[in-house]
Amino acid sequence: MIWMLTVLASADASRYVFRNESVRPFSPFEVKVGVFNNKGEGPFSPTTLVYSAEEEPTKPPASIFARSLSATDIEVFWASPLEKNRGRIEGYEVKYWRHDDKEENARKIRTVGNQTSTKITNLKGSALYHLAVKAYNSAGTGPSSATVNVTTRKPPPSQPPGNIIWNSSDSKIILNWDQVKALDNESEVKGYKVLYRWNRQSSTSVIETNKTSVELSLPLDEDYIIEIKPFSDGGDGSSSEQIRIPKISNFYARGSGASTSNACTLSAISTLMISLTARSSL
Ligand SMILES: *[C@@H]1O[C@H](CO)[C@@H](O)[C@H](O)[C@H]1NC(C)=O
Ligand SMILES: *[C@@H]1O[C@H](CO)[C@@H](O)[C@H](O)[C@H]1NC(C)=O
Ligand SMILES: *[C@@H]1O[C@H](CO)[C@@H](O)[C@H](O)[C@H]1NC(C)=O
Ligand SMILES: *[C@@H]1O[C@H](CO)[C@@H](O)[C@H](O)[C@H]1NC(C)=O
Ligand SMILES: *[C@@H]1O[C@H](CO)[C@@H](O)[C@H](O)[C@H]1NC(C)=O
Ligand SMILES: *[C@@H]1O[C@H](CO)[C@@H](O)[C@H](O)[C@H]1NC(C)=O
Repeated sequence: MIWMLTVLASADASRYVFRNESVRPFSPFEVKVGVFNNKGEGPFSPTTLVYSAEEEPTKPPASIFARSLSATDIEVFWASPLEKNRGRIEGYEVKYWRHDDKEENARKIRTVGNQTSTKITNLKGSALYHLAVKAYNSAGTGPSSATVNVTTRKPPPSQPPGNIIWNSSDSKIILNWDQVKALDNESEVKGYKVLYRWNRQSSTSVIETNKTSVELSLPLDEDYIIEIKPFSDGGDGSSSEQIRIPKISNFYARGSGASTSNACTLSAISTLMISLTARSSL
């Protein structure tokens, strides 16, 4: 390697610009700086890698494709520009806007590195969106790809499962609820998610079913908190209120989560009746 030497005859110098028209954009240079005085040269600094300025990417990404994942989320895919870019690619910028909004107010998200797909979240359901992708680097963004369209799915059902009743015995909990019917402007119900957790435990387990009942095999020496919600292609629907199934042992119990706030009271009364029965049968 050939070192070039430049002497700056100023004790205050803290900056130096090297100009050479034939240097390509983003070319690496190794640089070290030393000091000297009239007695001779001092030591040099360690070597540092610096790059000449770069040009923005010159070609647009190709083969843009977007698909809807739910009412709120879409996924976008693209390919890096087909021809060789003069500008280095640091990442991609995806611009997206709703058809009913102005393109000037489009939102942008950036990916880093070679990643050629991304998810976009928090969108509106049943809405037409337009998207375009550009490559970027430290010099700026390159030309935009063609615009593609994608329509988000219909929102999930807005009605929560109602009329939930449960009974329990022998370390089993059986839950039943009324079928949720999606409106015309909502995604169809594909099944239900039953979320349950131990009273004190924070992590929640989920089971999915496409029926309107479920049997959980759970030890009954703890209180359980249960919630049910429908799911659809548009995402998860509204959740039922939380139903508390109280701790019981050996005795048969039942209850319901009414759609009012006194569900817990109902459950508590069921528990009370159980313990009375238990006492009198001893
Ligand atoms: C500029 O760069 C070219 C090619 O690297 C080199 O031949 C030339 O000597 C350089 N000129 C100066 C003034 O450093
Ligand atoms: C991107 O791809 C190039 C060529 O395939 C590779 O050299 C480089 O390491 C990749 N960069 C990252 C961040 O994955
Ligand atoms: C995208 O939507 C716009 C506005 O509705 C329409 O003019 C355009 O033709 C669509 N593009 C494609 C590729 O479908
Ligand atoms: C619990 O409820 C289910 C469904 O309603 C019912 O089939 C079953 O007989 C009930 N169990 C008892 C012990 O009553
Ligand atoms: C869906 O339709 C119902 C009536 O059928 C209406 O009340 C509701 O506002 C609509 N929802 C949306 C998101 O358009
Ligand atoms: C319900 O789920 C079962 C098991 O996951 C599956 O075999 C069955 O086809 C599903 N029924 C419907 C109507 O989707």
